Amino acid sequence: MVEHVETPSQREKILAILERAPDILTLPGIIQQILEVTSRKNSSASDLTAIIESDPALTSRVIAVANSPYYGFVKKITNVSHAIVVLGFREIQNIALSMSVLKMFDPKGSEFVDQLWKHSFCVGVASRMIAEHLRLKVEGKYFVGGLLHDVGKIFFSQYVFTSFDRLLSVLWEEDTMESYHALEERMLGITHQEVARILLGEWMFPAEIVDAVACHHDPASSEVDRLFACCIHLADVICTAKGITPLKDRHFVLIDRGVLRFLEECGHTLTTSDVKSFMDRLDLEIERQSTYLSAFRNR
Ligand SMILES: [Fe+2]
Ligand SMILES: [Fe+2]
Repeated sequence: MVEHVETPSQREKILAILERAPDILTLPGIIQQILEVTSRKNSSASDLTAIIESDPALTSRVIAVANSPYYGFVKKITNVSHAIVVLGFREIQNIALSMSVLKMFDPKGSEFVDQLWKHSFCVGVASRMIAEHLRLKVEGKYFVGGLLHDVGKIFFSQYVFTSFDRLLSVLWEEDTMESYHALEERMLGITHQEVARILLGEWMFPAEIVDAVACHHDPASSEVDRLFACCIHLADVICTAKGITPLKDRHFVLIDRGVLRFLEECGHTLTTSDVKSFMDRLDLEIERQSTYLSAFRNR
């Protein structure tokens, strides 16, 4: 029988930190302005252009991302207004938001954060591949959702460092019988999905991204865009199966059976050979999208 040592006090401690999230993890003013302008009904492309262009670093990154093979535009995009015309308000919002949140992936951080970055990027790429396979309208949200799906783990590794470190050592002990997810619930009293819902919600991320990220281990609970949550879930399992994971968890994450049933109900099919082909194509796709990656990480 496993002893419940730290629940619920640890949970309360984490919730208290999250309550202060707007103070301790403030998004840069420019991101708040972008969120405001993109959510206003009567705002124009020139309002958004003016905000982005007031930040030269953001300007060059938005242009670099817009020109990456991810979008596949033949004609070179040379300025922000052109990027907004071809990519749209929401896409620019997604790019700007992700860039600010990705600053949390400290490049000089721990090995765990570095591997989590690789995992997150791969889940972003795989999630988009799956959306394409399902013939969904391919938008940046699939990549962004994948990129951010484990943002709760970044939070743990930075704001409850000691407890999280202890959790990882238990996970990596030879005779550990518990999975990462079970340890999260037992030792932290809160899951990384719950943390992500609070964090991204506080930051006013679009509801569909908050929901898909929060439901990536249980897409059936998604209330906004269940297919989106399914794409992230499948991408997560595929990347983990390929060994692209920071967890070294011996308890293998399996595809939720409900996901396959739900896809079928929606008229989509996903066979074992489809999953195998995703796994085979993923390395190539990651390579192909490395320019998008460097545009994102360039700061
Ligand atoms: Fe996760
Ligand atoms: Fe993950």
